[in-house]
Amino acid sequence: MSPLPSFEITTSAPAGAEATGRLVGTGLVALGREGGVSEAVARRRGFGATVGERLVLVDDDRSEILLGAGDPGRFGTLEARRAAAVFARALASEAECVLDLRGVASLPARDLAQAVVEGISGASYRFEGYRSAPPEEPSRRIHLLVGEADLSAADEGVARGRCVAAAVAFARDVANRAPGDLTPTDLADAAGRLAASGGAEIEVFDEARIVAERLGGLLGVARGSAEPPNLVKMTYEPDDAVALRGPDGRVPTVALVGKGITFDSGGLSLKPPASMIDMKHDMSGAAAVLAVVAACRGLGVRVRVVAIAPITENMPGGRAIKPGDVLTIRNGKTIEVLNTDAEGRLVLSDGLVLATEEEPDAIVDVATLTGACVVALGGEVAGVMGNDSVVLGALEEAARRAGEPVWRLPLPSSYRRHLDSDIADLKNVGKEREAGALVAGLVLEEFVAGRPWAHLDIAGPAHVDEARYELQKGATAFGVRTLLEFVGAFEPDGAAGPRSADHLGVG
Ligand code: BES
Ligand code: MN
Ligand code: ZN
Repeated sequence: MSPLPSFEITTSAPAGAEATGRLVGTGLVALGREGGVSEAVARRRGFGATVGERLVLVDDDRSEILLGAGDPGRFGTLEARRAAAVFARALASEAECVLDLRGVASLPARDLAQAVVEGISGASYRFEGYRSAPPEEPSRRIHLLVGEADLSAADEGVARGRCVAAAVAFARDVANRAPGDLTPTDLADAAGRLAASGGAEIEVFDEARIVAERLGGLLGVARGSAEPPNLVKMTYEPDDAVALRGPDGRVPTVALVGKGITFDSGGLSLKPPASMIDMKHDMSGAAAVLAVVAACRGLGVRVRVVAIAPITENMPGGRAIKPGDVLTIRNGKTIEVLNTDAEGRLVLSDGLVLATEEEPDAIVDVATLTGACVVALGGEVAGVMGNDSVVLGALEEAARRAGEPVWRLPLPSSYRRHLDSDIADLKNVGKEREAGALVAGLVLEEFVAGRPWAHLDIAGPAHVDEARYELQKGATAFGVRTLLEFVGAFEPDGAAGPRSADHLGVG
């Protein structure tokens, strides 16, 4: 919502900038340069230079802030992003400041600059869309100080960081909007503007098209709402698609499916009031996958990426589906709906079937799917499940690089019987209070037709109730940075490049 800071790369601190931040490792070796404070002073003030730590030193006319970078041998993009976020918060009122990146050398200049831009942009993000008198937000200019030899690499890193930050800001903005102000139609409109700005193709299925395409899960969930549903399909075609074709003549493709419930009341299986509070965030998966596809051109991604977002409210209107109703998903499988609050899996089932039709090398769905996953992993860690060890491994590695914590959970085939229905192919809920996150994953697995697939349950980390490092209170855009790392693994020379399928059996 508010403008993100602007960044400039420089080799010497510009005159006039009154605040300087400096990355300092726990060895404190880089101190004492250019009139900065000495190591002894920093130590005396109790500064240990661990990640997240800061020491503000104010002179007559300028301030200097030391930013802990931790063990220089272990300094990576996560540490850089966090230190930069601490810098942004400490100097939030400065219109112009300098961040000296020359103190830590263990990270390539491009990756360092990218992480710093992500950290500063993330921590500078504000959502003030609804205040009558929003606080004045001065535009900020930040000079990144690098060595002569690193100029062009840092420049590229800044451009990439900006691109990622814009994707993150989009996903946060839509998820932070009030549910009455972000109806399914509004979300599709926002996606249309985003696709145009990112050079991606977009197709929006309206209700008639959803009927024609037999998306019975999405239609069923939408029945209780006065707002029409839609399904957004956004596609990124790489510039050099012909050159990317494999031996089989196909361009490597990743399909991303995102849950787009713009408000989850629970439907007739109504949620209690306290549980409904955060349910405007129930479209965070859709926001993430759309943001990712729109960012691909700016990042020069060399794989085709398709996002599919089934979008609707889940409401208890007079025409709502009732517990006991049976829905037919696009692939013909039938689901008995015994709890209308387990709606995410219904809309995702249609989305996953559409995804399989793209014949992708990998499918990943992202969803605020289960409270059970929040019970298991808390508010900071997403659950990962899937049927393919290569896709799961690539997703975990991507999450590690993105600094978005995930933890793998199993999909035990023996739990499939929890989903046995008396009258349909399956029911939409398992046993009360038993393995809720896994059983939801098992529902989804029914709709991927054996294709390599992973499921990311972001019910916990999709939003936070207090700011920390690069996150602001509210929507986090969790998954955006992980998926942007992930798609790279499926580029022709990426870690998960062309390969044969390898399916994972659990239990
Ligand atoms: N959107 C919720 C999941 C959720 C819960 C997200 C808490 C974020 C925080 C989902 O649609 C839901 O209601 N799931 C039910 C499933 C149950 C009825 C089997 C749940 O987790 O309680
Ligand atoms: Mn629900
Ligand atoms: Zn939901």
